Amino acid sequence: MKSGYTSLYATRVLGDRVTSYSEFQSLRIPQPIKDYHTRISKERDDSNYMISTFESQALVFLARAIGAKRVLEIGVYVGYSAMIWSHAVGPQGKVTGLECNEEYAKLAQETWKDQGYENIDVHVGPAAETLTKLADISEPYDIIFIDADKTGYSGYLRQILEMSAPGAKNRLLRPGGIIAADNTLRQGLVVDTTPDNPWRPADFDNPESFQAIAVAAINEYNDLAGDNDRLETFLVPLWDGLHLSRLVD
Ligand SMILES: C[S@@+](CC[C@H](N)C(=O)[O-])C[C@H]1O[C@@H](n2cnc3c(N)ncnc32)[C@H](O)[C@@H]1O
Repeated sequence: MKSGYTSLYATRVLGDRVTSYSEFQSLRIPQPIKDYHTRISKERDDSNYMISTFESQALVFLARAIGAKRVLEIGVYVGYSAMIWSHAVGPQGKVTGLECNEEYAKLAQETWKDQGYENIDVHVGPAAETLTKLADISEPYDIIFIDADKTGYSGYLRQILEMSAPGAKNRLLRPGGIIAADNTLRQGLVVDTTPDNPWRPADFDNPESFQAIAVAAINEYNDLAGDNDRLETFLVPLWDGLHLSRLVD
């Protein structure tokens, strides 16, 4: 029997080449959105917040594969991935973003306006609070993308499940809808915190360190999603880990 081991990333160079080839053979992201990614990457120190263009291709594919028309994004930053979702669902679809940082939200809104993406809204404020205000939505979401504070992930998942009770009116996520949580392998630190992992920060032993707290929070999220009868999950070992959960009921 074959093991789950993938031979495609045996060296960094091979991994990069295989990734470039896969990007090339995958669906196209519109050039203006790619240009925005490139510009933000050049201009901003915090640009590593954005998902990669390769991950974006996968998300567009996923959204189209399930016929998604409504996407909720938790963690907008300067609006890159929201444009990806907007492109995926098309002008008749709807994207709702939750972002706590006013400056980011303003930049995102300016960009969407400039680029002609009219179907994206952003709610500014802590996502856990904003989520409760979405309780009276008219139509459930097809996809919820979690890409914000890692310590919030488990709470967001609990809220989503509570607000999507089977048979309830105004549920947040439809039956069969997808929750996609980003950074859920956290540079491999969720499984390997030994010095064998080159991404292990020097202060990782300090339980108060940023990365130790984030990794503990992600571990909690992965367990919560993976061990839930209402969810079928697949944790994709690509990018920084993308935990996909399909709401069964
Ligand atoms: C990784 S970035 C999002 C990147 C974006 N999804 C993209 O790929 O273009 C995470 C964002 O979550 C926001 N954030 C962090 N904590 C939050 C909270 N409690 N509520 C809402 N947004 C939050 C941050 O301000 C930041 O803009």
